[in-house]
Formats: sequence, C-alpha cells, structure tokens
Amino acid sequence: MPFVRDPDIDPTPLATKRIAILGYGNQGRAQALNLRDGGHDVIIGLREESPSAAKVTADGLVHCPLAEAASSADVVMLLAPDEILATLYNAIEPAIRRGAALGFSHGLAIRFGLIAPRPDLDVFMVAPKGPGSALRSLFLEGKGMVALWAVAHDATGHAEALAKAYGAAIGCGRAGLIASSFAEECEADLFNEQAVVWGAVPAILEAGFQTLVEGGISPEVAFLECVGELKLLAELVESGGLSGMREAISNTAELGAVLGGPKIVDKRVREGMRAILAEIRAGDFTRQLERDAVGGYPILNESRSLARIAPIEQVRLTLAKQLADDS
Ligand SMILES: NC(=O)c1ccc[n+]([C@@H]2O[C@H](COP(=O)([O-])OP(=O)(O)OC[C@H]3O[C@@H](n4cnc5c(N)ncnc54)[C@H](OP(=O)(O)O)[C@@H]3O)[C@@H](O)[C@H]2O)c1
Repeated sequence: MPFVRDPDIDPTPLATKRIAILGYGNQGRAQALNLRDGGHDVIIGLREESPSAAKVTADGLVHCPLAEAASSADVVMLLAPDEILATLYNAIEPAIRRGAALGFSHGLAIRFGLIAPRPDLDVFMVAPKGPGSALRSLFLEGKGMVALWAVAHDATGHAEALAKAYGAAIGCGRAGLIASSFAEECEADLFNEQAVVWGAVPAILEAGFQTLVEGGISPEVAFLECVGELKLLAELVESGGLSGMREAISNTAELGAVLGGPKIVDKRVREGMRAILAEIRAGDFTRQLERDAVGGYPILNESRSLARIAPIEQVRLTLAKQLADDS
C-alpha cells in the first residue's frame, strides 16, 4: 500500500497558496489552525450570521462570506456537513478562480455525484482518520493523524503533489498519508460508521446492558460491566492489537471471549454487514442522509432525544454524580 510521510513529501506546491476553509466545525477549525501554525495563508468562509464568527476571531483568524473566501483562494476546502456540500458548492462555484483546487475530507459528495466540479479545477481529498479535536491535539503534541488522500480530477498536472502537501500541512504527514480513492474512502468510512465502531458497537453495548438488567443485575453493575470497560479495550487494542488485548486479559476473560464472540457475531451478523455495504454502494444511505437534511433532520433529532432519556444514559448520569460526590 503506497504510504508517504513528511520526509517523502514536497511542501512547496502549497507554500505560496492561499487556502479558503469553508466551514469552521470539527475539521474546519482543526485544519485551519494547523495550517495557520505551519505558516500558511488561511481565510475562513462562513455563512451569513454564522455562530462560529466569534470563535474564528478569538482564534486569531480572519473570516468573510463563503463566496468571497473562495474567490480569494488557490485551494478551496469544503469542510461543512456532507449533506449540504452540493448546495454550498453550487453557491460558490462562479466565484472559484480558474485552475484552483477543490479539497474534501470525505469522498461522499464525489463518490455519489452530488457535486460535479468544474473541469478546470483540481479535485483532491485528504481525509484524516479521526475527529478534528484529535487532529488538532495531536498536532499540538508534535504528532499527527493518519489520513487517506486521493485525486478525483487532475486539471493542472499538480493535483497529486498538492494533495500530499496539504496532508503534510495539516500534520497528517507526521503519521502517514495513504493513497486511496474517493470511492474506497467513502465506502469504507460509511461502512465502519454503520456496521462496526459507531453503529454496531454502541448497539451491542446497549443490548448487553438491557440483557443484564432484564436478568436481574443492578443497572449500575450492568453499566460498569458493559460500558465501563470500553476505554480499557480500546487502549489495549491500540497498543497491542487484538492479539495483545487477548494476552492482557485473564484466562477466564480470554476463554469467555473466544467462546462468546462468535455466538454473537454469527452468520446473520455477517449477512447484515454485507447488506449494509451493498446499500451504501447503491447510494441508498446517501439518499436517506439528503432526505433527512431536507426535512430538518427528523431521524437524527429523534434519535438524539431518545438517547438522552434512555435508561443506560440515566444510569451513567447517576453513577457519574455518585462518583463525583464521593471524591
Ligand atoms: N467530524 C470529523 O471530525 C470528521 C472526520 C473526518 C472527515 N470529516 C469530513 O469533514 C467534512 C466536515 O465535517 P465536520 O464534521 O467538520 O462538519 P461540521 O463540524 O458539522 O461542520 C460545521 C460547519 O459547517 C458549517 N455549515 C453547516 N451548514 C452550512 C450551510 N448550510 N452553509 C454553509 N456552512 C454550513 C457550519 O456553519 P456555522 O458555523 O455557521 O454553524 C460550521 O462552520 C465532512 O466532509 C466530513 O465527512 C469529518
């Protein structure tokens, strides 16, 4: 797998370029601050009456309306929610300079054809593999976050060099930049979000909690067992992989894991995973994401409300309060 780090990357393609960061949320803020700290010329584009304007100013950066920022830049990064990127791009397209570069941190808008960029634009992606807060904190520690990079359209002949230079400038070259494609990054990212870490793992934590409580275990003990050990698992897997994690736990836990895991993650679960991947590739999920946004996010709003009042959350709050009171 092609993998490059800072010593392999030429920073000059970005050195004299002005970069417009459109959106100042999770990725926008982290990327803008990392670029600024690296000495790059950064301008932030915000929508009218943006609640983020004060934060941009407090961070020592300059902001202006979206089209104005785009018109002044050589590289235009679209760092707002994926489901509104097409509307955002269509609004600013006439303002983007001829021969400029359009950058993404996720492949969805290009993979599913939500945006058809002007043919004179370079189109590249640098997708950090983690949240913006971690991208920023790692940068401040002198470290970096792994990212995938790709080029969807090379109008100038310099798009690949620019993508790598951008990845290095936001700190990802310290850890490593992996060559990918918009389609691969998008499909794998959506799959993980739905079928593994962010979809299936929380669902299994909650199902385990409910099963223990139904079986007569106190909610507090059920919570500590099913949710409380998650951080420990993540740390062990990060430091030693799945095999190191197995070796770090007791024989009792290890044999239980070996026998119990496959009973839960069985043939049916794998079929469900394959179905999710097929739905993602067919564009079903992307259409649902767009529909939810157009309707004012009814699905997301309902799920957030339900999560706040769920028994597992009430137990977490009670435990946190008790632990704080006792300390
Ligand atoms: N979350 C992550 O850390 C992460 C990780 C890897 C890749 N990515 C990718 O990075 C990109 C940005 O994601 P994100 O999570 O950073 O987004 P986000 O935090 O949700 O973006 C928020 C920003 O987008 C602006 N925005 C929202 N709706 C807008 C609209 N209709 N017009 C103009 N601006 C609008 C907001 O404006 P206001 O300030 O005015 O509210 C805010 O500045 C996405 O492609 C995502 O897939 C994200």
